Amino acid sequence: MTEKKTFHITTFGCQMNEHDSEIMAGMLIEKGYEPVEDRDTANIVIFNTCSIRENADKRFFGTLGQLKRRKTEEKEAFTVCVCGCMMQQQHIVDQLKSKYPWVDVVFGTHNLHKLPNLLDNLYKEKKKQLEIWEDRDAIVEDLPAKRLFKHKSFVNIMYGCNNFCSYCIVPYTRGRERSRNPFDIVKEVYALAKDGVKEITLLGQNVNSYKGEGADFTDLIYMLNEVDGIQRIRFMTSHPKDLSDKLIEAFKKCDKLCKYIHLPVQSGSDKVLKEMNRKYTREAYLSLVEKIRKAVPEIAISTDIIVGFPGETEADFEDTLDLARQVQYDSAFTFLYSTRKGTPAAQREDQIPEEVKHQRFNRLVDVINESSAGKNRGYIGKTVDVLIDSVSRNKIGTYEGRSDSFKLVNLIGKDIVDGSIVPVKITGANTFSLTGEIIKNTK
Ligand code: 5AD
Ligand code: SF4
Repeated sequence: MTEKKTFHITTFGCQMNEHDSEIMAGMLIEKGYEPVEDRDTANIVIFNTCSIRENADKRFFGTLGQLKRRKTEEKEAFTVCVCGCMMQQQHIVDQLKSKYPWVDVVFGTHNLHKLPNLLDNLYKEKKKQLEIWEDRDAIVEDLPAKRLFKHKSFVNIMYGCNNFCSYCIVPYTRGRERSRNPFDIVKEVYALAKDGVKEITLLGQNVNSYKGEGADFTDLIYMLNEVDGIQRIRFMTSHPKDLSDKLIEAFKKCDKLCKYIHLPVQSGSDKVLKEMNRKYTREAYLSLVEKIRKAVPEIAISTDIIVGFPGETEADFEDTLDLARQVQYDSAFTFLYSTRKGTPAAQREDQIPEEVKHQRFNRLVDVINESSAGKNRGYIGKTVDVLIDSVSRNKIGTYEGRSDSFKLVNLIGKDIVDGSIVPVKITGANTFSLTGEIIKNTK
């Protein structure tokens, strides 16, 4: 390469995708490409797509369409790459080929490590590159990653999902469950700690079904709890049907395991849960929450809820509202059901009208916000350790960080270094965040 090419990655979707983008950035930097913040000045633009809901598809195509003019003007001097979950769906790739033939490189979720090669081939052969792999067992290790924060990092522990919830596209786009070898994970975490990482978030669609050689998920947490330098361990996402007593016990025994759990419920109606193929009942979910809270009273619990699943009646929805009121979540991601081509629920004829979905959505958000605000008010007067992420974008002289229980905390301070852990007395609370004052020097 004669001149240094610049690149920009736009990421849609979940933490998995964010981490995939960090890996792509790491590989490109290693190859001598330079990251830039402004998409309009980059020689190479990469879109890492998400397929979980329809509006993610729409946003992607909308943003991609805006690049056509630049591509027409700059031709080979400007490279457009698209990758991620959407590319694992044949009808999307067909749509790209027919309507966006000017895209240079297309690849999927299973062959992201091929990006540098695909770019080399594009420049050498002067030919478009399309490479989508079907689900493969192999896991590629030792890929470099360019982290967003110096002091915290995502760590993939498994890929794919075997659960086939009837509304969800993920098992089709990310493939079957594959767990990484625990020793590869531990090795990676040691290297991260050496590089200044204090907090790791273990990622998987269903971390509770992690099955590494000789270690289940909880064993892995115990192993990682021993890594010097790492001070906080988080994980995402837990399927309620697989959450073990052994893991609940680990919250008490592993001092680094943060007291926060994301436990998607999706619906509070037994009928809907069955049709969603979630494999637990409302009662089983509620007893699980009770068991967790009994063992770890200060734990924060968040969830995912879908409203307007096909056939959801007013009574089903009332069950969801009732469950949310009973659990008193710290926070929740609420979603309008979105039809995903190829999933069983998409074929149903009893789809819910959009206006009903929206109306239910708003009612649910009111219930969730009320419990979030209540939980947050409970922190007033308490002292919590906050890991500082950065100077706040919102207000001069304030910093933002997260408590052990994943609460966003805004605090007033001076000369605080990113990545330090500071004790903060909580003085104020609202629905989505806390405010506080530092009470001692940094740790
Ligand atoms: N429609 C709406 N929400 C969905 N989710 C997954 N698939 C769909 C869909 N088709 C939500 C679930 C999941 C979260 C990541 O996205 O709540 O837990
Ligand atoms: Fe989708 Fe269900 Fe797997 Fe989560 S557990 S990724 S909702 S199929």
